[in-house]
Amino acid sequence: MEFEPETESLRTVEPIRWTTEGVVLLDQRRLPHDVVHHTYTDYRELAQAIKDMVIRGAPAIGVAAAMGIALGVERSKAKTLDELRTEFATICETFARTRPTAVDLFWAIERFHRRFAELTSALDSPGPAGLARVREALVAEAKKVHEERREADERIGRLGADLLPRNGRVMTQCNAGALATGGIGTALGVIRVAAENGHRIDVLVPETRPYLQGARLTAWELHQDGIPLTLITDNMVGHFLKTAGVGAVVVGADRIAHNGDTANKIGTYGIAVLAGENHVPFYVAAPISTLDLSLASGEQIPIEERSEEEVTHLGGVRIAPQVRAAHPAFDVTPARLIAAIITERGVARPPFDVSLRNLAEQR
Ligand code: MRU
Repeated sequence: MEFEPETESLRTVEPIRWTTEGVVLLDQRRLPHDVVHHTYTDYRELAQAIKDMVIRGAPAIGVAAAMGIALGVERSKAKTLDELRTEFATICETFARTRPTAVDLFWAIERFHRRFAELTSALDSPGPAGLARVREALVAEAKKVHEERREADERIGRLGADLLPRNGRVMTQCNAGALATGGIGTALGVIRVAAENGHRIDVLVPETRPYLQGARLTAWELHQDGIPLTLITDNMVGHFLKTAGVGAVVVGADRIAHNGDTANKIGTYGIAVLAGENHVPFYVAAPISTLDLSLASGEQIPIEERSEEEVTHLGGVRIAPQVRAAHPAFDVTPARLIAAIITERGVARPPFDVSLRNLAEQR
């Protein structure tokens, strides 16, 4: 089937939006075939949508959790501050149980815990008017988180663009684009800004089995933006890194430990090893909210195990006999394979324990 590019730039595509009716998500499971939106009015359904990959990508999951918590509090029937406190804890707990690897989710939950504590401790009257102010302030906070994601992506794009070749090939993995952040994307944001600045780039897009975020989402985003791309299967990565004159690899991240070890979509580690073997610089692009400096190394990053069926089936059709299958959704790339980590506050270079700490401490 042909998918014609739309005329609109992807800078306007929104995987998530706060509306007065509820939180609207673009259903990423249906792309690129169908562009379908769902409106969530119950936070529990929104949490389930995160688990089910209606929305995915670490920064976008953070925005979804922020909006989900705000939605839960806004629609809560609590009449007293104590009731609201109890419900707030349940709402946060529900989101914390959705996806374990993307640390932006836990970053958003912690931020809302701090904001809730601030608002409720400053409450002079814990009656209906006071509770209404808390509800409004949390909705405003969720919108702010979304706005900050957009700004961070723009800065990451600007800082990273110069690292890409003026003329040549770049490889990415999975989808670290607008769909994954709510802005212009992290890795794809870097590629987008480079393209806008006149770099003539062809993007090699591995399909990213088993969920096909490369084939379905990255190919769709780049195609719509008119950025040249070549879709490849995952087992072509080594061949292309060896023979195709790739100038850089740029990927997103789900969690970055203190020493720079980086969890990202399964397959990223293999790409990094093959990039190193072929002297291709390997870059990670991620917002500060993806840093988890509480973890000394990548060994401590929890790796999500998803259902075997996502491996044994393709588009609902079984492609394997009735055998066991494994589906770790992420792997960890050791810091030694990473040339730089591009954040909105600057580009971190090795040793990452020093450079990431410096960026995290900047205000
Ligand atoms: O399982 P997903 O689709 O949520 O995994 C997404 C990725 O691995 C992305 O590369 C990462 O979250 C960075 S998105 C800017």
